[in-house]
Amino acid sequence: MKETILSVRNLKTYFFTRRGTVRAVDDVDFELKKGECLCLVGESGCGKTVTALSILGLVDRPPGRIVGGEINYDGINLVSCLPARMRQIRGREIAMIFQDAQSALNPVFTIGDQIVEQIKLHSEKSHRQAREMAIDLLKEVGIPSPDEAASYYPHQLSGGMRQRAMIAMSLSCDPRILIADEPTTAVDVTIKAQILDIFQRLKESRQISLLFITHEMGLVSEIGDRVAVMYAGKIVEIASVTELLTNPIFQHPYTSSLIKCLPGITQERERLESIPGTVPSLIDPPSGCLFHPRCAKAMAICREKEPPPVNVTKGHTVFCHLYSAQGMKK
Ligand SMILES: Nc1ncnc2c1ncn2[C@@H]1O[C@H](COP(=O)(O)OP(=O)(O)OP(=O)(O)O)[C@@H](O)[C@H]1O
Ligand SMILES: [Mg+2]
Repeated sequence: MKETILSVRNLKTYFFTRRGTVRAVDDVDFELKKGECLCLVGESGCGKTVTALSILGLVDRPPGRIVGGEINYDGINLVSCLPARMRQIRGREIAMIFQDAQSALNPVFTIGDQIVEQIKLHSEKSHRQAREMAIDLLKEVGIPSPDEAASYYPHQLSGGMRQRAMIAMSLSCDPRILIADEPTTAVDVTIKAQILDIFQRLKESRQISLLFITHEMGLVSEIGDRVAVMYAGKIVEIASVTELLTNPIFQHPYTSSLIKCLPGITQERERLESIPGTVPSLIDPPSGCLFHPRCAKAMAICREKEPPPVNVTKGHTVFCHLYSAQGMKK
């Protein structure tokens, strides 16, 4: 049994806007184990990025605020820890590759200089040592001729290479946890496979714990050890990747829909489905199960009561009335 490195308990992060309260993350619960890759998957707007930003204390305040729950890391609760300690953790222990990674690189500095800067920020290294480390990092993420590449400006690199440079930058503090927010969205299929390969290697060589955010269920089977499926600010299912993909009897209907949208698994492109309807408003969400308006299997109870967690097998929890005692009675 792997040790837990980060545990998120009943996390609630809301945005208080003029239109109303956006419940972006609403009672989210999960654990990240040492050396594993946990995928956080779900459609656009379901709260994946806000979950990650909450962990790092980077939610825009105002309008956002963590209104409940705990994020436990290394014996402390990140929700209530001092800003100075949070900055330290952000720089040295938990790193994040942001969703708009391309814009995170500064166009007027070479990538080498940017990585050196990051290294010096988090350590006592001399410029020369930092430069050597930067080149090693570029090499580690598979950038050819890293010496030369270090003197390139971001615009001189291809999209895939820029993405690698971003990964190198995130490793500059030698983090124990790496949060990667949609790190393969802007790249084509071949590059995507290469980037996934880098993460896979980092997990093995550095024993890094990965929180990998994606809206593509297809990536989950390639990189994930476990998966948390998120819908409208809530986790609806959490399981090991093998269990989730091979035990469809207890799958959440939302998870099933995400899987059906996959060309890789259904094989037949023409039969690819998309999930009808859209993610509900997080300001005025539906009653009961938030997925019920889009669920083909919805029952009367789904409109009335929020589904309780059902433990299907060890480590596999699904929030769905289809499998709850109350739902089964109906
Ligand atoms: N600064 C903000 N002010 C108000 N609402 C916000 C803010 N940031 C995020 N939200 C809302 O929080 C909800 C969750 O957003 P989030 O960015 O976490 O989604 P996501 O799952 O990462 O989506 P995507 O796949 O598109 O990146 C959305 O409804 C979004 O509009
Ligand atoms: Mg996002």
